[in-house]
Amino acid sequence: MKLWNVAKIKASKAVCKLPCVTAYDAAFARLADGAGIPLILVGDSLGMTMLGYGSTLPVTMDEMLHHTAAVVRGVKDAMVVGDMPFLSYQISIQEGLRNAGRFLQEAGADAVKIEGGAFRVPLVEALTQNGIPVLGHIGLTPQSVNVLGGYKVQGKTQEAGEALIADAKALAQAGVFAIVVECVPPDIGAAITAAISVPTISVGAGPACDGQMIVLHDLLGLLETPPPKFVKPYAALAETVRNAFSAYAGDVRSGAFPDPQHSYAPSGQPLS
Ligand code: KIV
Repeated sequence: MKLWNVAKIKASKAVCKLPCVTAYDAAFARLADGAGIPLILVGDSLGMTMLGYGSTLPVTMDEMLHHTAAVVRGVKDAMVVGDMPFLSYQISIQEGLRNAGRFLQEAGADAVKIEGGAFRVPLVEALTQNGIPVLGHIGLTPQSVNVLGGYKVQGKTQEAGEALIADAKALAQAGVFAIVVECVPPDIGAAITAAISVPTISVGAGPACDGQMIVLHDLLGLLETPPPKFVKPYAALAETVRNAFSAYAGDVRSGAFPDPQHSYAPSGQPLS
């Protein structure tokens, strides 16, 4: 049995904070899991971080399942949540149920994440009643970037803030085990957190939330572009990796690599 599951995540509310990250392959998932991260999201941010797309919209079910299965293979204790990609759950409850089931059945995920507020209640109920735990996601929902008019802070007016609280309450009532709250002012993050009995996981929603989530590449400083304001990078791996590639290329060109230390012993056989 894994150390982390839905019951333990829910029970952590107001007891301990949840440091969550995204991951997309077995190698990084193993490192995050080994560091005691309780929840690893295989986000559809995969599209930008790993696949070179400009948004999450082109990401497919096959791509998500492929990467989710890899993450699952790297993890021992963390919950692995598969992010349902654009159009995999919007068409109908039936399609949503079938695609969510594939994350558990084919990729070995423990739960799925879907974007959207109160209007997702029927889908959340269908999934949870059929044994599929759901992580909600409100605030900035990147699959709706074209409707939102860009990647902007949400919930800035009183009306918008109250609508987010109502969304969170509806999702919690419908059975989500936690809710990602993305890009909202910290007081709105705090109000949502106080209003519901399941944990909130902040992506730029302030310190009052029950957990925090940072996209792996932002956390490790793996991208060349500046991260969003709410990201604190904990490493500068882009520079480290670039320097390693340059040093390697220089050594190969100069003949410094491979040296005897990195070569097998000569066979000593006479060759014709
Ligand atoms: O796709 C993703 O990585 C996400 C997180 C930022 C919550 O949705």
